[in-house]
Amino acid sequence: MSKNREPATVAAVDAAALEQEALAAVAAASTPAELTALRTRYLGRKSELKQALRNVRDRETGMTLNAVRERLEDAFARREADLDRSELDRALSSDGFDVTLPGEELPVGQLHPTTQVRRIVEDTFLGLGYEIRDDREVETVEYNFDKLAFPPTHSSRSPRDTFFLADDVVLRTETSPSQIHHLEAREPPVYMVSIGRVYRRDAITPTRFPIFHQFEGLAVDRGITLADLKGTLLHVMRALFGDDRRVRFRTHYFPFTEPSIEPDVSCGVCGGTGCRTCKFTGWIELGGAGMVDPRVFENVGVDPEEWSGFAFGCGPERAAQLRFGISEIRPLWSTDLRVLRQF
Ligand code: PHE
Repeated sequence: MSKNREPATVAAVDAAALEQEALAAVAAASTPAELTALRTRYLGRKSELKQALRNVRDRETGMTLNAVRERLEDAFARREADLDRSELDRALSSDGFDVTLPGEELPVGQLHPTTQVRRIVEDTFLGLGYEIRDDREVETVEYNFDKLAFPPTHSSRSPRDTFFLADDVVLRTETSPSQIHHLEAREPPVYMVSIGRVYRRDAITPTRFPIFHQFEGLAVDRGITLADLKGTLLHVMRALFGDDRRVRFRTHYFPFTEPSIEPDVSCGVCGGTGCRTCKFTGWIELGGAGMVDPRVFENVGVDPEEWSGFAFGCGPERAAQLRFGISEIRPLWSTDLRVLRQF
């Protein structure tokens, strides 16, 4: 097509020649981009055909030109579909894309070691007839300290040890507030276990992390003794670490138990003869425990003359470390699946 055809002569455009030329070009187009350029050239706003249509004066020429336009539109649409299809065919064969191949496998997760321990603990205590509690992590000073008979000067009340959200609101430093909540909600006898996260302002080291879990147990009934506590802890330790475990008590102090003890479980790595895991003592510390202090009973309106009870608090992370032989606590807070898949 010549470029210097004057608009004035456009009305007299040779429609047949134009159509031939355009159809030949469309047939020769080999990519969608080329086709788009040709469409602009032959059917665009400034194309010869559109200008001629705009300048049409008689009906017959108008009908002829419109028929050409329609046939060209058709030709473009068909060619476009052809090109799309061959483009797809080419992509499918040249990229070697096999639509029958199975999809990529999604990574499969598994229970976190802490969760595995949690489930064992829950199952064990459910088997003993305990109720499972879940309490708030944001706790009042009243429940985290006061009602548990912490003396006003106790170091845990300091903002250097504890995360304060307000003057009288903290991130709980232990699961022991569950003892208070439970005794306020139920009349004894009660048997409950509460598992969850607790927070302390500790720097991160191989053995410490500012967030960790505890499982808290509380049993209040008539005539409960330290022997019941020992038997109960022995039972759960055997569920966690195997039937040949032994448990021993060392005296300790907690504001809300009297007497207070720290339970140890015999080391499973060396069987109690001494190794690096147990620092050559044959024993591993489990947490804290004791008989419920009468002041705690008074704070929740339980008669200490009629009822007695024991409480204990242990760390699932520590248990997971022992059970899975993990020497540090930090991997337990990793989100790297390669780390977590090992357990
Ligand atoms: N709450 C204590 C701690 O975190 C553990 C404990 C629980 C002690 C129950 C006695 C009774 O250290």
